[in-house]
Amino acid sequence: MDGEPIIRISGLGKNYLTAAGPVPALEDINLVIYPGEFVAIMGPSGSGKSTFMNLLGCLDVPSSGAYSLNGTNVRTLDKDQLARLRNGVIGFVFQGYNLLARVNLIDNVALPLIYAGVGKAERNRRAQEMLDKVGLGKYGASRPSQISGGQQQRVAIARALINRPRLILADEPTGNLDSRTSHEIMGLFTQLNRDEGITVILVTHEADIASFANRLVRFIDGHLAHDGAVEHESHGTLA
Ligand SMILES: Nc1ncnc2c1ncn2[C@@H]1O[C@H](COP(=O)(O)OP(=O)(O)OP(=O)(O)O)[C@@H](O)[C@H]1O
Ligand SMILES: [Mg+2]
Repeated sequence: MDGEPIIRISGLGKNYLTAAGPVPALEDINLVIYPGEFVAIMGPSGSGKSTFMNLLGCLDVPSSGAYSLNGTNVRTLDKDQLARLRNGVIGFVFQGYNLLARVNLIDNVALPLIYAGVGKAERNRRAQEMLDKVGLGKYGASRPSQISGGQQQRVAIARALINRPRLILADEPTGNLDSRTSHEIMGLFTQLNRDEGITVILVTHEADIASFANRLVRFIDGHLAHDGAVEHESHGTLA
């Protein structure tokens, strides 16, 4: 593929320090991901997937190795610079949606713009635009508890998109959803990837969810055990 990688990782390792001593979670991970890729990450429970996503998202620091995000070696950045890079480049989506229960959907989606210092009128305009994009334009005044789980995940995706990220990191985004709703959410990721060129990296335990991606990376015991293309026959009717 042409151009600069969005992610370049070499010799990456992570040990968690615990009372019982260091717990090795990742060892010697080497990976390059280019803009526009759609990568599924699989592997058994405890194999290091979330640890890896937290490192990709600069939510945690590696114990060894190097990580460049969008061409910048993250180790060279101070805390504020790192926060700026993260907020500017990455949108996060989590299994549990992580919406604020007490505020309406517009305010939930607009939240990252408060940190970015954007004024209220502009925040509301952009949040409405993102809710429209995920098919929930009419629900802006609702609270999270008044909509379904699948709709809440759409709101979380709208929130992830509000800073116009180049990269979406999603850790088991369909883990709480039934199969039909999961496929709808995957359709949305596919659309963002295909139509807007957003790079998507997504953790899942489900092979049919992984089949929406173009590339599959598998972790076993903190090691990268497999990295290859995804066969695309299994969800032909949904593509
Ligand atoms: N904060 C922590 N402190 C200590 N050990 C941790 C911590 N977080 C994770 N670990 C350990 O690191 C290893 C990898 O955990 P991780 O959460 O990355 O796995 P995972 O692949 O995401 O699993 P799952 O599929 O269950 O979400 C496991 O052995 C886990 O117990
Ligand atoms: Mg996990």
